[in-house]
Amino acid sequence: MNVFGPFLRLGVNVDHVATVRNARGGSHPDPVRAALLAADAGADGITAHLREDRRHISDVDIMRLKAELKIPLNLEMAATQEMLAIALKHKPHAVCLVPEKREERTTEGGLDIASAQAALTPFVGELTAAGIRVSMFIEPDPRQLDAARAIGAPVVELHTGAYCSALLGSERNQHLERVRTAARYAAGIGLECHAGHGLSYETVGPIAAIPTIAELNIGHFLVGEAIFVGFAETIKRMRTAMDAARANGNVKS
Ligand code: PXP
Repeated sequence: MNVFGPFLRLGVNVDHVATVRNARGGSHPDPVRAALLAADAGADGITAHLREDRRHISDVDIMRLKAELKIPLNLEMAATQEMLAIALKHKPHAVCLVPEKREERTTEGGLDIASAQAALTPFVGELTAAGIRVSMFIEPDPRQLDAARAIGAPVVELHTGAYCSALLGSERNQHLERVRTAARYAAGIGLECHAGHGLSYETVGPIAAIPTIAELNIGHFLVGEAIFVGFAETIKRMRTAMDAARANGNVKS
């Protein structure tokens, strides 16, 4: 930990490399190749979401990522028995529990863990017993943070989607303040705090500047921007933007 808080890790989400691959049903572009390239370009971890409908990442991708990566793999998944068995088989470094609806285009909101405490406690317990670090993707809401602690998850990931998609500056500031307050609260109750969803060069600064956030998970913007300047260059620029904001305590929104 330095005066600006802990080092801020970048988790690169490769789901949408698989989305492009699956558009043609072949093997190109390969999300594992993208993950290895991301690691060389400065990613601290790789994130992949195995969805129930396998619309992007596949079971084979998870197996290959686990076998080939030398940096931590963060498996995003719904809290279902099918996914629990897959996580216990591959034993990724971390699992991030996310809500999942088939009809949504992306993970639209955080997991309502406060209403599912009884079911989630043994689920998290099984993953933890297997040596997997469990995080929960939640809205920046103290009630959800208290629930994460009660359930026994050591990590939470705050959903930054509402902050990133707010069109008005005033509205964006309100969402940013919610994230800031939640990140502070998380640290106060002993939870490691991550954040992600919708982050881009434009929105990353104020989030990266929050000293109690330890990791950002970013995917769609990086894969999209890679079309113009390449994946490695995009990741390096994101890393630089994150580091600059963390060092300067960037509070602009
Ligand atoms: N974190 C979580 C838990 C997510 O579900 C997602 C989307 O898969 C992300 C981060 C990354 O979001 P984006 O692709 O918008 O950067």
